[in-house]
Amino acid sequence: MLCVPVLMFVSPHGLLYSGETVTLQCDIPDFTDWTYQWYNIKKLQSAGSPSKTITALSDQVNQYQCQGTRTDLPQSSQLSVSLHITVTGEFTIKKNLPLTSNQPKATLSSDQKDILTGDNVTLTCTVESSGWRFYWYRHRQESEPVNTTSGSSYTLRQVNVSDGGQYRCRAGRGDPVYYTQYSEPVHIQVTGESKHIVPGYSTPGHFGVCLGLIVAAFLLTIVFVIQKGSPF
Ligand SMILES: *[C@@H]1O[C@H](CO)[C@@H](O)[C@H](O)[C@H]1NC(C)=O
Ligand SMILES: *[C@@H]1O[C@H](CO)[C@@H](O)[C@H](O)[C@H]1NC(C)=O
Ligand SMILES: *[C@@H]1O[C@H](CO)[C@@H](O)[C@H](O)[C@H]1NC(C)=O
Repeated sequence: MLCVPVLMFVSPHGLLYSGETVTLQCDIPDFTDWTYQWYNIKKLQSAGSPSKTITALSDQVNQYQCQGTRTDLPQSSQLSVSLHITVTGEFTIKKNLPLTSNQPKATLSSDQKDILTGDNVTLTCTVESSGWRFYWYRHRQESEPVNTTSGSSYTLRQVNVSDGGQYRCRAGRGDPVYYTQYSEPVHIQVTGESKHIVPGYSTPGHFGVCLGLIVAAFLLTIVFVIQKGSPF
């Protein structure tokens, strides 16, 4: 028997949600010719591969253990230590679907409130834990996403009025994909003209104000000269 600790890893890392598909990986130091055995509550479940895919259920992930055997000495490894993993939510096994109310929620925010034509607007989708891909929806949540990103933000570049509407996001991970709930919508409304005026170009309005100031300065100078001259 090989007396070094056998390690087990789970992906994704961190908080798991009941009903999502997770992968367990068994890591036995030394030797490479192990045959891996997977146990659930001490009962042999399967043998062969160093990794095992399971559906995370709140009371079960921690009960998996792995062990290796080989034909030469040492013929077996120790059993892996049990995982300390938190699985949240409930899962309806019969329907094979997570209870919607227990799915994690995505929260969508925009970096801008008053949006003008030509602005870049960055939307950020926030979900607890990590390893997600992000799906971006416009108008209707059931439609195909308008974009999918690996990062949690999505930038609408140089928007115009037709980019406006209700935006939503949700996140997903694993295979099959485990989705969060859709976020509440964020309403993007693009109004008005660009505030980014091209340098060197001045509008008639600016020109008018400028001319007005020159005329006013000229008149004040005349009044000043006349007043200075009045004692004579
Ligand atoms: C918006 O993004 C484009 C392309 O990345 C960039 O050229 C432009 O300067 C940005 N506009 C603003 C207002 O930040
Ligand atoms: C999707 O988003 C990425 C990152 O913001 C961007 O580079 C890409 O052009 C977008 N694709 C579409 C179809 O909008
Ligand atoms: C607004 O932007 C979209 C996408 O960038 C483009 O297809 C459309 O022609 C633009 N509309 C106007 C009025 O500029």
